[in-house]
Amino acid sequence: MTHLLNRSTFGSKENSGNVMSEASAMELLQDWVKNEKLIFHMKQVGHLMKTYASSKGYDVEEQHKWFLAGLLHDADWDQWPDEHCRIIIEELEERRLDPTIIQAIASHGPDYFGVEPQTEMDKMLYAFDELSGFVHAYSLMRPTGYDGMEVKGVKKRLKDKSFAAQVSRDDITDGSERAKIPLDELIQFVIYHQLR
Ligand SMILES: [Fe+2]
Ligand SMILES: [Fe+2]
Repeated sequence: MTHLLNRSTFGSKENSGNVMSEASAMELLQDWVKNEKLIFHMKQVGHLMKTYASSKGYDVEEQHKWFLAGLLHDADWDQWPDEHCRIIIEELEERRLDPTIIQAIASHGPDYFGVEPQTEMDKMLYAFDELSGFVHAYSLMRPTGYDGMEVKGVKKRLKDKSFAAQVSRDDITDGSERAKIPLDELIQFVIYHQLR
């Protein structure tokens, strides 16, 4: 199913630098999302985004923007799956959030939303989203969870189409290509830094 947004610009430049606290973002999630697993998925992606921005040496303000993009990207999925991700985008526009965060959320699935990831933040959100979910699913079926997890084990499961079948392998490959980060490197980053 596609959820084309039929728009190409999101938020307003005059709101640059406007963020919300982690506490208010969590409040929004508690309000909108009843599915605890989905909240955990967003926390995991938010954590990866923040950690990646930090690894690139970006300042704490920038890291927080990356964090918010990850933390809120699926906020409307639980209640309005058919309107994902239009609802959360409109909410964040109304709250006058920094446009780079809204743009990243709008482009986290180019094939579904029809919005191309452009900035590094956009591309990393797209690259981490499905991969984070996949590695998490893999950790749940391993007796030792993340302990001793290796890149080759993740790749073996990626080839097994019956495992976590809902996770799009195409999006994972495409995300890594667009980010210009080899898939092995990306998987290693997720294994190391994923919130447990
Ligand atoms: Fe999504
Ligand atoms: Fe997601």
